[in-house]
Amino acid sequence: MSDYLLEMKGIVKQFGGVRALDGIDIKIRPGECLGLCGENGAGKSTLMKVLSAVYPHGSWDGEILWDGTPLQAASIRATEAAGIVIIHQELMLVPALSVTENLFLGHELTLPGGRMDYPAMHRRASALLAELGLTDVNVALPVLHYGGGHQQLIEIAKALNKNARLLILDEPTASLSASEIAVLLDIVRSLKARGVACIYISHKLEEVAAICDTVAVIRDGRHIATTPMAQLDVASIITQMVGREMHQLYPRQTRALGEVLFEARNVSCYDVDKPQRKRVDNVSFTLRKGEIVGIAGLVGAGRTELVSALFGAYPGRSEAQVWLHGKQIDVGTPYQAIRAGLALVPEERKQHGIVPDLTLAQNMTLTVLQRFSRLGRIDSEAELATVQAQMTRFGVRAASPFLPITSLSGGNQQKVVLSKMLLSQPAVLILDEPTRGVDVGAKYEIYQLMFELATQGMAIIMVSSELAEVLGISDRVLVMGEGKLRGDFINDGLTQETVLAAALAH
Ligand SMILES: Nc1ncnc2c1ncn2[C@@H]1O[C@H](COP(=O)(O)OP(=O)(O)OP(=O)(O)O)[C@@H](O)[C@H]1O
Ligand SMILES: [Mg+2]
Repeated sequence: MSDYLLEMKGIVKQFGGVRALDGIDIKIRPGECLGLCGENGAGKSTLMKVLSAVYPHGSWDGEILWDGTPLQAASIRATEAAGIVIIHQELMLVPALSVTENLFLGHELTLPGGRMDYPAMHRRASALLAELGLTDVNVALPVLHYGGGHQQLIEIAKALNKNARLLILDEPTASLSASEIAVLLDIVRSLKARGVACIYISHKLEEVAAICDTVAVIRDGRHIATTPMAQLDVASIITQMVGREMHQLYPRQTRALGEVLFEARNVSCYDVDKPQRKRVDNVSFTLRKGEIVGIAGLVGAGRTELVSALFGAYPGRSEAQVWLHGKQIDVGTPYQAIRAGLALVPEERKQHGIVPDLTLAQNMTLTVLQRFSRLGRIDSEAELATVQAQMTRFGVRAASPFLPITSLSGGNQQKVVLSKMLLSQPAVLILDEPTRGVDVGAKYEIYQLMFELATQGMAIIMVSSELAEVLGISDRVLVMGEGKLRGDFINDGLTQETVLAAALAH
């Protein structure tokens, strides 16, 4: 018998001529939690798709030993039967099915005679969600009823419903709140105590440091090092990931701010299902030329609702009076908002940010296609030149602009969405969780770009759940709580404690 539950040896995976994985070795003991770290596009998700047979045996080279014997799985079904369960980076839930149906998809409980045992499944579903601290979910409702954080927890519950011997978590906390993350980390700890092994992928390196026993770092499809966490810290993981030391995470510099550019008055949003309930309650604020304003608050504070309403994209009833350059503008629809000079990079990349059936290039030029139109035809050479310039500017890593957008790594998809909105040259740029799933190096590039744009006079609104990020780059911080504006601070000596206290104040 082998000491190891899993050994992956010399794994090579190619897409077309491109080597996404170039001979990777990792191994894990039962009860061990292995952190898998690397920049966007390093190959983390691809390696996990090889392991879970999303890419079946035969479509890659190398060897996988499971309990010491070769694993040659043809499908996810086969790896799940062996006890390998994966929580994918991009949510895989079926939005129109109920929470229960999603949790039991392919593993339905049936009554004698073959009919579905819904009462038993509902009970089990509620119990699973309660373990994750989710008690406000009606498991009979369709998944689309719930927001990103809840959907992520439902996805995790789905994995816990299977009997895992190895649980793979690919970027599981990107849309979770701090308290939800704490619950998840506790669950991983208790799985470890029961002998379940975990592979944990996250760009939030403090989580990796908190939970992992060992950390494997890969770069450009190659294995760099596997090191016990006891010999590492966040800084040394970053150094291994990017291949150089990074002393500073936030490149903030002070800028002279201009006159008031943008003003929002009395923004209110009403709950889609309970129209008498306000999700955003009479929020007003102004924004100066060149100013970066961060919006902080807990999950459910109404931040995403606020910025969607400013952009005409709130799904329910909303009210907003908006002035840009001293003129009142109509933001009834996103089209009107874009024409007036606003741009929004939305929170849910998969739902609102990308068009999955199109290529990287098509996604990027979607909002500005008319710019390349000559006599009713698209000048594809000019379009391609723009796309390539944007890819260089943002460091989008992809073998070709003609690849489907969905084949890009998560962080690189985010960069495409960002560059798409910037092509419309907005006066006010609204970013909702812009660095979610983005690696430390690319985050730094995104911040630098924000400073560059602000220096040129663009005003930027950034919603972020990462307080360190809000404080690291904002000139001013607005704090929301329960739909209300609870604080408006100049970011000069502002601390996380002050912001949190404002968010929680009644
Ligand atoms: N289906 C595909 N076709 C072509 N190239 C692909 C495909 N899937 C992945 N790749 C490429 O393989 C490389 C590794 O991607 P992968 O998704 O594994 O990165 P990652 O480490 O998970 O990054 P992130 O942190 O952004 O999630 C990338 O260059 C990506 O563009
Ligand atoms: Mg990935």
